[in-house]
Amino acid sequence: MNNTHIAPIFYLATLYLIIFSPATSIASYAIEAIQSHEYSHIVFLYDDSDKKYVLKQIVSDDVTDNFYLALEAFCYEVAQKINIPSPHLVHIVSPGVSSVGKKHDARPALLMSYVPGTSPWYNLQQKSWHGYSWSYLKPRPFQDTGLTRTVIRSMASHPHAAALVAYDTFIGNSDRGNNNLLYDEATDTLYAIDAGDAWRCDLGKEACMQLALLCSQGISFTQEERKALVCYHDMLKRLIKLYPSPELLIERLIAYALQCGFDHEELIDPASSIGEQFHAYRQIICNNHASCCALVWLLEKILRS
Ligand SMILES: Nc1ncnc2c1ncn2[C@@H]1O[C@H](COP(=O)(O)OP(=O)(O)OP(=O)(O)O)[C@@H](O)[C@H]1O
Ligand SMILES: [Mg+2]
Repeated sequence: MNNTHIAPIFYLATLYLIIFSPATSIASYAIEAIQSHEYSHIVFLYDDSDKKYVLKQIVSDDVTDNFYLALEAFCYEVAQKINIPSPHLVHIVSPGVSSVGKKHDARPALLMSYVPGTSPWYNLQQKSWHGYSWSYLKPRPFQDTGLTRTVIRSMASHPHAAALVAYDTFIGNSDRGNNNLLYDEATDTLYAIDAGDAWRCDLGKEACMQLALLCSQGISFTQEERKALVCYHDMLKRLIKLYPSPELLIERLIAYALQCGFDHEELIDPASSIGEQFHAYRQIICNNHASCCALVWLLEKILRS
């Protein structure tokens, strides 16, 4: 092999090391702190150059809950594509691979870059009418669900907010409580973290229904709210252009699920426990995608009037 052949290989190898270095050298990371949450084990880590990372594992007894890590990792990928501030470096440490900070070596972990900030007070959460799709929760009052006037008002209160709410609608994430949002005062940045509850509900449909209700009540939006709705619409349209069919989302989600250790045959077998869950996710992804397309159309009608 001559030098002309070696050079591209060398550059590719260097690039690979740069991109994947957090995973390959994690053995040398130092633990700063460990937090125990109800469903997760969160470890804050430093690498050799003092860059900070977070390692997250699911600790519930049900191993199918590891699927939340696949959802979270995939949603960070979506966020990065549309420049929603969020952990930019995300890597799944496979089950069976031991690493600093892992509580259960046999289970997968999500290693991601640390984002600064503290939980702010925004009302950006689009609540779902029926809680989670397969839960026993009692339905919420309809006026508190989806894209409420309160959420629209909050969307107008920070330049990043409307795009973030559109992202949540698109990924069907009704869990954007303030604990899953970090505000960095130094850079005036709102960071989205933790989308492990994505696609549990058809938020696109709930937004359509709430907007239809607001319009039927004759509500007129302020200039700021209209501007936020335009931004929300534009982001939703951009997401649909990026993922024109739900199958593209499903395909990417399967790729992350495999990295988390799920078996492809089981995922597509509705008789297995993960297959049954995955079937429900698949249906919500399809329904939510169709609802988001209808929502874009409805917003265009509202914003024209
Ligand atoms: N990438 C990150 N950068 C900075 N802090 C993070 C990051 N990921 C998680 N955290 C911190 O860890 C906390 C818990 O993380 P996360 O929300 O992902 O877990 P959880 O199991 O859903 O916990 P909770 O139920 O409290 O929301 C967050 O509220 C945040 O303070
Ligand atoms: Mg959380």
